[in-house]
Amino acid sequence: MRWRSSCLRLILFLSAFVGKSATEFRVCAYNVQNFNLEKASNDRLMHHLKLVLIRCDISLLQHVVDPDGQAIQKLLSVLNRGAGRYEEYNYQAVSSDGLGNSPSDLQKYVFIYRTDTVNMTGQHQYKSKESFIREPFVVRFQSQNTTIGDFILVPLHSEPSRAVLEINKLYDVFVEVSKKWNNMNVMFLGDFHASCAYVTQQDRKKIRLYTNSDFNWLIQDREDTTVTDLTSCAYDRIIVYGEPFLRAIKPFTAKVFKVDAEFKISRSQVVELSDHYPVEVVLKSSALFLQATPLLILMIIQSFLSAL
Ligand SMILES: *[C@@H]1O[C@H](CO)[C@@H](O)[C@H](O)[C@H]1NC(C)=O
Ligand SMILES: *[C@@H]1O[C@H](CO)[C@@H](O)[C@H](O)[C@H]1NC(C)=O
Repeated sequence: MRWRSSCLRLILFLSAFVGKSATEFRVCAYNVQNFNLEKASNDRLMHHLKLVLIRCDISLLQHVVDPDGQAIQKLLSVLNRGAGRYEEYNYQAVSSDGLGNSPSDLQKYVFIYRTDTVNMTGQHQYKSKESFIREPFVVRFQSQNTTIGDFILVPLHSEPSRAVLEINKLYDVFVEVSKKWNNMNVMFLGDFHASCAYVTQQDRKKIRLYTNSDFNWLIQDREDTTVTDLTSCAYDRIIVYGEPFLRAIKPFTAKVFKVDAEFKISRSQVVELSDHYPVEVVLKSSALFLQATPLLILMIIQSFLSAL
């Protein structure tokens, strides 16, 4: 009996350990509401932002106001500080130019990604001033740590009053980039304003990403991606195209990351970061054997014990 329980304990310990080494691959999107040098100089804010971003292998940041790139440089140095001591990670960034109609409101799309789990293999600035105020800056990634392998991320921070038009136009971006890279593994992510007054139930029939059921909306309509209690709107979304990408998603992992609840930091400190919460999804890890191992070991040991 004693042998049995200590053996079981050992197995549990080992399986927990093995299970941990197969880390999750998380993709996040965060409207960081006017992320500029001033925000990047606020130590407390940057500490909280780091807590959010180091959970993610790739983060799309939107509404970055950083003409000379200094704010993102600061962010990278904060993210990479201490790396190697506790964890092996290193982050890099790829940014669009400032995008927008007015020189006083130019915003960048910025992808922050972990260099040890993912490679950036291409970038493409979509160009159509009639379609978008901030045209998607599309980036292609490759990661052996995911089952999907090779995939394309299409960001959008829509102009609220043009949300229906712009989300619909994402279909044209999809056609262009999937052809360009001969790859249909496309994910759309960002603050689409795809809810409440900007996109109503009625509007959906005008949006090909709704009418074409090959596009899978992973963040549901009932979610609230806004921080304030005054609104409950699923503005920020993640959408994947096709069966292969859907199968490469870990089920039930697409969610709004409620920063205040998760980190026990105050509402006012979350508001300091942004009026939006991040959204995220986990891609299945390619380390299938490692993922399966704990369960497998438990099943074997159980049948072994019951045979005794
Ligand atoms: C990144 O690319 C290099 C060179 O092709 C490859 O050896 C490495 O495994 C890739 N990393 C990942 C995480 O896929
Ligand atoms: C990613 O894949 C590489 C190569 O297969 C492996 O060495 C590494 O441990 C994996 N990293 C994570 C975090 O799973």
